[in-house]
Amino acid sequence: MPHTPRFAGRVRAVGRGGDAVVETSEGVVLAPGGLPGEQVELERTRSKRGALRGKVTRVLERAPGRREPPCAVAHRCGGCPLMIAEMALQRRIKEGFLHEACEGLPGASDSELVWIAAPDELGYRRRARLAWYGQTFGYRQRNATRVVDIERCIVLAEPLQRAWDATREHLRASIAGQGEIQLSLSGEAVVVELQALAEQSPELFEACGELSRTTGIRGVSLRTGDTGTPAVWGEARAAARAHDQSILWGPAGSFSQANDRINRMLVEHVVALAEPEGMRVLELHCGIGNFTVALAEVAATLVAVEQDASAVEACRANLAARRLEARVVEGDASRPPKGRYDVVVLDPPRQGAKNLFEEACFWRGTRRIVYVSCDTATLGRDLRLARDRGYRIDRMIAFDMFPQTAHLESLVRLVPR
Ligand SMILES: C[S@@+](CC[C@H](N)C(=O)[O-])C[C@H]1O[C@@H](n2cnc3c(N)ncnc32)[C@H](O)[C@@H]1O
Repeated sequence: MPHTPRFAGRVRAVGRGGDAVVETSEGVVLAPGGLPGEQVELERTRSKRGALRGKVTRVLERAPGRREPPCAVAHRCGGCPLMIAEMALQRRIKEGFLHEACEGLPGASDSELVWIAAPDELGYRRRARLAWYGQTFGYRQRNATRVVDIERCIVLAEPLQRAWDATREHLRASIAGQGEIQLSLSGEAVVVELQALAEQSPELFEACGELSRTTGIRGVSLRTGDTGTPAVWGEARAAARAHDQSILWGPAGSFSQANDRINRMLVEHVVALAEPEGMRVLELHCGIGNFTVALAEVAATLVAVEQDASAVEACRANLAARRLEARVVEGDASRPPKGRYDVVVLDPPRQGAKNLFEEACFWRGTRRIVYVSCDTATLGRDLRLARDRGYRIDRMIAFDMFPQTAHLESLVRLVPR
């Protein structure tokens, strides 16, 4: 077997994707498994989009704060790249992402970064995307299509782990090809959504029916090939928890925050920073109404925008069930309904809200912009566009929504300069 050359390097930082950024004589290499300041030994894997990639084969000098990961498959799986770091070090790394996003912007150096720690470091996930490849069930490896066999995942909430056990047990014998599996906690039970790339046998359909009748499973859906409508057993609706613990209903597959306890704090902080009392509020990317039902309780008027038609319908129903009023508009958040808004709340997907900040014409007169972000890279870009529109940062809060991973949920409030 050809020998793969190994070489050493110093970890400069951990990047937003969770890989260590290692300075070596060959150039900068991105490699999972290193922590800032460490001297590591690397093996080159392959280059992707111009970046050299590798894997850490040995830690030559350990960083203070390195630990043995509490999960036996952490090194193989790759889903929790920060599990090798103590929680305090995870915090420093993730705070660094938000500091970097805000660096040099007006107001950033005067605003203290508030850190909201996760109440549960493990067992917190109420939603997870897994996969199968042949008879292997697990997570798709980062930067690869390979599926790593996973029996137990310690960041899953217990009902999801039980649903994962049942899914593997019932479907393994009849499932074919490959596909994605989404598990979501719906109330107290779990919805299992399967998306298969190829057609499946009648036996799999039968097995899905059996799975849906298992204790702890609310429903199962199976979409095969290009078919638009999935086959459904039981009830595949989503049921997320609102800030007051009541149920927010949503269509199968709709977005909901992955960590209930952090989400509750996120909603409270969004409302506190928006100060919606007596204000004309615009909420963009409202989904099924996670923030909407809290904002509608106090805003003078509320217009909420969402592009997914079924989420819009759910948001309206969730408001109506609480006898709350808001105008929920189906449309593109980068072109919100014209009007005068005192407060704008936005919570875009990873791509951020570039078009909104470049094009929207309502900023003049807006007293507060409350930006919820799940990607500090696009947040940083958009904050620079907001600066060009005359806004400065006055609050920055980091929520540890996904402990053990490099993902961070951030909340930034902008006010006119
Ligand atoms: C991160 S989720 C947030 C949802 C909601 N705020 C919550 O906390 O559950 C982003 C939402 O934006 C919606 N979305 C994505 N692109 C959009 C666009 N261009 N215009 C309006 N909504 C969009 C998605 O469908 C999704 O519901």
